Amino acid sequence: MQQIPQQPSISIADKVILITGAYGLIGFTIAQAFLLQGARVVLADINDGRKANILEALEREFPADSFLLATLDITREESCEKVISEIAGKFGKLDVLVNNAAIDAKFDQQHAGSVNPSRFEYYPVELLRKSVEVNLTGTVIITQFACRQMLKQGSGNIINVASTYSMVAPNQSLYDFGEGVKQFKPVDYIASKSFIPNFTRYIATFYSREGIRCNAIVPHAVFNNHNEAFLKNFAKLSPLGRMCDREELVGPFTFLASDASSYMTGSVLTVDGGWTAW
Ligand SMILES: NC(=O)c1ccc[n+]([C@@H]2O[C@H](COP(=O)([O-])OP(=O)(O)OC[C@H]3O[C@@H](n4cnc5c(N)ncnc54)[C@H](O)[C@@H]3O)[C@@H](O)[C@H]2O)c1
Repeated sequence: MQQIPQQPSISIADKVILITGAYGLIGFTIAQAFLLQGARVVLADINDGRKANILEALEREFPADSFLLATLDITREESCEKVISEIAGKFGKLDVLVNNAAIDAKFDQQHAGSVNPSRFEYYPVELLRKSVEVNLTGTVIITQFACRQMLKQGSGNIINVASTYSMVAPNQSLYDFGEGVKQFKPVDYIASKSFIPNFTRYIATFYSREGIRCNAIVPHAVFNNHNEAFLKNFAKLSPLGRMCDREELVGPFTFLASDASSYMTGSVLTVDGGWTAW
């Protein structure tokens, strides 16, 4: 007789989880959700301007010893090294790294003159360099330092945050608001985020016999007070007909952070309302 399968544990209680870019829309949502579930969370971000508000919000809800706010620039090795050693000092381990920090470079539309800088042929290439520096090089650097700590422990779990633009090209009609108001999703975000799924496979296979697993999650279009024109375009193009509520990401992130996903490594979990399904 086969044994009845054990209930898979989707608990993340007591796991020590570092979230990069944790003061932003998705990072802060996930950080609070993880804390609510009993994890110990390190919120790390380059934007110190938001630190006081974030601290106040967390202190209202969670015990002071369950979280740490850290200033982190993922593009700088000394900054990454410092944060990882702070985590080891305070919590003694690092169970999960969520590589969430990224930029979506903005150009100066007002001073663009007669050309549309979001069009590929005029796109300012220095913005591509900036995005590559953060979204690609920065992700590699913080992962290096996290892996050094995880190797010492003999275990670790990395969740890389990709995008549907890691998987497919943007449908540029999403950014066509009629009456001549037309933007284009520029190439920097697409180029730099396309790196994430294959980086995930690289890390997953590199460390597969050393106790570290690595998966990616693909969110898409998290609602953040977008205007009516965008919402209308989006509803037409999305199979589910709507944007993502930030809370809908909590389940998939928790699953990947927990031991319930223990046989998953190198995979890419799509949470996109069906965007890439047609
Ligand atoms: N919001 C969406 O709809 C969406 C969709 C698909 C994928 N994503 C991905 O989700 C992740 C989070 O997106 P978001 O919408 O919350 O973005 P956001 O801009 O709200 O947050 C990103 C955070 O990263 C921080 N950051 C930037 N550069 C940094 C650096 N060098 N070091 C450390 N921190 C840095 C920023 O200060 C910011 O707080 C990104 O990887 C993004 O590509 C977002």
